[in-house]
Formats: sequence, C-alpha cells, structure tokens
Amino acid sequence: MDASTTSYDKKMSLQTLIFTPLLVLFMSFHSHALVQPSNWKYAPNKGGVRAAYWPSGDDLSPSSIDTKYFTHIYYAFIQQDPQLFHLSVTEFEKKWIPQFINGLRHRYPPVKTLLSIGGGGSNSTAFSLMATTKHTRQVFINSTIHVARQYGFDGLDLDWEFPENEVDMSNLGVLFHEWRQAITLEAHSCRKPPLLLTAAVYYASTIKLIGNGPRTYPIQAIRDYLDWASPMCFDYHGAWDKFTGFNAALYDPNSNISTKYGIGSWVEAGVPTHKLVMGFPLYGRTWRLKDPNVDGVGAEAVGAATDTDGTLDYDEILVFNKENGATVVYDDVAVSFYSYAGTTWIGYDDGPSITKKVHFARASGLKGYFFWALGKDKDWTISRQASNAWGH
Ligand SMILES: *[C@@H]1O[C@H](CO)[C@@H](O)[C@H](O)[C@H]1NC(C)=O
Ligand SMILES: *[C@@H]1O[C@H](CO)[C@@H](O)[C@H](O)[C@H]1NC(C)=O
Ligand SMILES: *[C@@H]1O[C@H](CO)[C@@H](O)[C@H](O)[C@H]1NC(C)=O
Repeated sequence: MDASTTSYDKKMSLQTLIFTPLLVLFMSFHSHALVQPSNWKYAPNKGGVRAAYWPSGDDLSPSSIDTKYFTHIYYAFIQQDPQLFHLSVTEFEKKWIPQFINGLRHRYPPVKTLLSIGGGGSNSTAFSLMATTKHTRQVFINSTIHVARQYGFDGLDLDWEFPENEVDMSNLGVLFHEWRQAITLEAHSCRKPPLLLTAAVYYASTIKLIGNGPRTYPIQAIRDYLDWASPMCFDYHGAWDKFTGFNAALYDPNSNISTKYGIGSWVEAGVPTHKLVMGFPLYGRTWRLKDPNVDGVGAEAVGAATDTDGTLDYDEILVFNKENGATVVYDDVAVSFYSYAGTTWIGYDDGPSITKKVHFARASGLKGYFFWALGKDKDWTISRQASNAWGH
C-alpha cells in the first residue's frame, strides 16, 4: 500500500483486529472514550472487523468519514527514522494525526483508530535493521507505544513491505513477541485497555513471487501476539505483466495468484481464521492494449494506460467508463470486473464482486475485511455494500 497523494498513484497493502466479547467488556469499564449502552449494537465484536486505511492528507477529511460502514480506521502511514529507528513524527504528522484523531473522535457510531507504520513506499531495509537487535527493537516499540498514546490511538499496525528473507521473518516474530509484551505491560501500568496490535501482510503466508527466494511469515508469533493479520489480497496482476488480468481475483483456476489460494495458505500454515482480516482494493489496474480488437482477459498489452503505476481509483474508473462509453464485463470465475474502451483496459472490483468476496470471508470464518483505501470509493457505494453483505 502506497500512500502517495496524487490521485492516480495510490495503492496499498494492509491488515486488521480481533475483538473478543471479554475485551470489549474490559474496554467498556476502563476507557473514558467508551460507547454508551445505546451504541452497543455497533460494538465491533458484534460484526467483526470492517476496516479501512486513510492515506494521510487525503482530500477526504477524517471528519467526513461515514463511520457506520466501518469499525476500525487506520492512519496511513507514519515512518520510522531509518538510522535511529524511533517513529519519525514530522511536521506533516503533527498536522494530520490530530486532524485524524479529532475528526473521528466525535463521529457516531464510534470507530477504533490505529496508527499504521510503513506502507508500500517505505524503507524495507530500515525495518530489517530495526528488527535485528534487541536494542533497536526496544527503541522502535517504545516509540510506537509512546506516539500512539500521546495522540490517543487505540492500536498499532505494521505494514512492512516486505521482509526480504528468512532471517527478516524470524526477527519479525521476535519483534511481535516483544511488542506484545511491551503493550501488555504498558496497559497494566497505566490501567488502560491494551493497544491493538495488527499487521498488513502479503496475500499468502509465504512470499514467493517478489524479491528473493521464498520466505514464510512467523506463523506462531502472528497467531500468539497479533490481534489480527491483514493479508493484502490485491496487486495480483498489473502493467508489469504483458497481458491483461485482475488486480484481485478471488479464484484463478490456472494459478496460485488468487485470494482463495492466499487465504487458504494462511489457514493451512496455522493462523486461525478468526485472526485474519481480508483486504479489498478500492482501485483497479490499467493496461494499454496492443490491439484494441483483442480485449479479453489475458490480451496482449504494452504497459499501463494511466501512469507509470497503472492504478485507477474506483471513483475514477466509473468516470472513465461513463465518459468513454466503455464496455463493462463481469467475470464470474475470477469474481472481478473489467472494462475497456479504445486501447484502455481496466481490471477492478465493483459492488457485486466485493459482495461475493465478503460472503467468502464470512463463510471462511474470517475476522473481517479491510479496504485500501478511503477516498477512492464513490459516495460510499462499495463500503456500504460490503458492510451490508457482512451483516452486523
Ligand atoms: C533506508 O534505510 C537504510 C538503513 O537504515 C538507510 O541506510 C537508507 O539511507 C534508507 N533509505 C532511504 C531512502 O531513506
Ligand atoms: C521510551 O520512550 C520514552 C518517551 O519517548 C522515553 O522517555 C524513554 O526513555 C524511552 N525508553 C527507552 C528504553 O527507550
Ligand atoms: C500452487 O501451490 C501448491 C501448494 O502450495 C503447489 O503444490 C503448486 O505447485 C502451486 N501451483 C502453481 C501453479 O504454482
């Protein structure tokens, strides 16, 4: 997930949370910011996690987020100092974090807020170095808790894209363990509900298709120390492929690049379904067709149609389709849409495909879902359909 602010250039990767009734009960007795009894029908334990990331500084102001469609909103993203490893609270953060927290504080129904660290454009080497020694991990952990409490967040989220090798993965497991210990300790000593701890992760439990050789996430640490992990079930195909394809196919009979495979790999590896929050993209990916008359899935293409990155937000796709009289096709094998006009081809999700994905998540016993990202929907169209499909 990449929180750059130009509208054609946003994408992301992510995660989510877990609420047991006990935790909600605990929180209700110990937090001042607590929901009133009349709001209890919105308590997140009832309907699972319906989350979304807010790219900081987005045109959509936090105070205009329609919180009835969500339980958790992530601030995306803050970075760590690449040399000192504490969070780097820049002038930008000092401006936007308070706007985010204050904008959401008075919204009804209430949502939980999480501070997400990293993102698609962040420094993977710096994460790797930070996770290597006990001292640097402690500096990082301490600073994350400090900043989260200082601004009034309910939780912390790590979006390290991506651990490069097995050593990184093993250090990540140690980081999660120490982070959880520190969070528990801090909660006891200040008599507050513990901060949530979540992580955005690759769509599958082993990273195979990018970077170095295969490396598997620290499954046991994820299971034992995170409230939930959020597989980023998108960015499967894009202009880096020479053929058109889907950004986020639910099924693919011909490959393992699908959400069904990815979620299945997490469960098989040993992460309980109730600790998984599945990612949905509110953006599509574009191609320039080689031949405008060859316009199906897998058609030859010569790069992106929109910009170097080739992403297009859902609201922009609707505008494109309308203005260009595009042909829109639903692919019920992949559970995805595509549209084309002239030489432009776009693979994306719309309400009906997201609804089917929500049903899949629900039927699989997952904890919930999240969107990358707020500000890309069209008048809450998809957010609303997803929330209704989840049922709460
Ligand atoms: C990324 O982090 C590494 C290690 O801390 C550092 O040497 C490098 O300068 C950083 N890169 C950027 C672009 O900040
Ligand atoms: C943790 O952070 C606080 C606040 O920034 C600081 O005062 C304290 O020294 C830090 N402790 C460690 C061990 O880094
Ligand atoms: C898909 O994954 C399974 C199990 O992880 C593996 O056995 C199979 O070879 C993979 N198929 C492809 C096409 O990569």
